[in-house]
Amino acid sequence: MLIELGALAIALTGGAWGLARRHRARLYDRQRRRVAAIRQTQAPALGLGRHGVPDFSRRVVRLRDFLPAELFAGPSAEVVRLQSAERTFVPAHKKGGTIAYETLIQQAPAVVAYYHAPELMGFFSSVVGTPVVPTPIEDQSSLSVLLYDRPADRIGWHYDHNFYRGRHFTALLTIVNQGHAPDGLSHARLVAAVDGREVVVSTEPNTLVLFEGAVVRHKVTPIQAGERRVVLSMTCCSDPRAQAWQGIARRFKDTAYYGVRALWT
Ligand SMILES: [Fe+2]
Repeated sequence: MLIELGALAIALTGGAWGLARRHRARLYDRQRRRVAAIRQTQAPALGLGRHGVPDFSRRVVRLRDFLPAELFAGPSAEVVRLQSAERTFVPAHKKGGTIAYETLIQQAPAVVAYYHAPELMGFFSSVVGTPVVPTPIEDQSSLSVLLYDRPADRIGWHYDHNFYRGRHFTALLTIVNQGHAPDGLSHARLVAAVDGREVVVSTEPNTLVLFEGAVVRHKVTPIQAGERRVVLSMTCCSDPRAQAWQGIARRFKDTAYYGVRALWT
């Protein structure tokens, strides 16, 4: 009897795993088709040549007025309209909201078009000194929105662990940053450890911070009541292939942003 029950449990688990895999494969196929359609209809010119090639020797660079104002308005309006953030809380480390890549693919085509614009990846490649491409569609953090809008939303000191064969970079474009700090911004400050010093990286709206999170330790200090900081996070990689264990490790990391569903979606 016990043996039969055990066999039944194994069969049910295997069946559920197979169904989840099929469901996931279909979901990614749909998302790939939608991204391809967006790329065909929208290929924005972003005017990034005016930034030249900023110095990336410290593995972090900050660019104010990243996009021309008229180009910043459309995608930022799309981001502000989005409602479906997933809230997560990791005691003593992280609290905040996140909107995943799959939601952006469905609801924010202008943002997706910017992320996939050849000019953007070409610019990032020239800055970091190696050709980079967007990280895969299976990675919910490839393109996401980070929300700090409830008291004490924050993230403690950490490195962005790299789950790919190539080097991995993160670009944070600030969409909204409003608060009661003397400069009118929120108290959610991006702080990076650069050359052994803690450096506050000011992130006014339309500021881009590009960094290699695997080697630059960083944190965001707690936001206060009545403040709001909304950031578009874009990741890219010099080789987006991953070993199986790296894919699994990335999914476990993503549970801190999207809850346990990150293990199977
Ligand atoms: Fe990070």
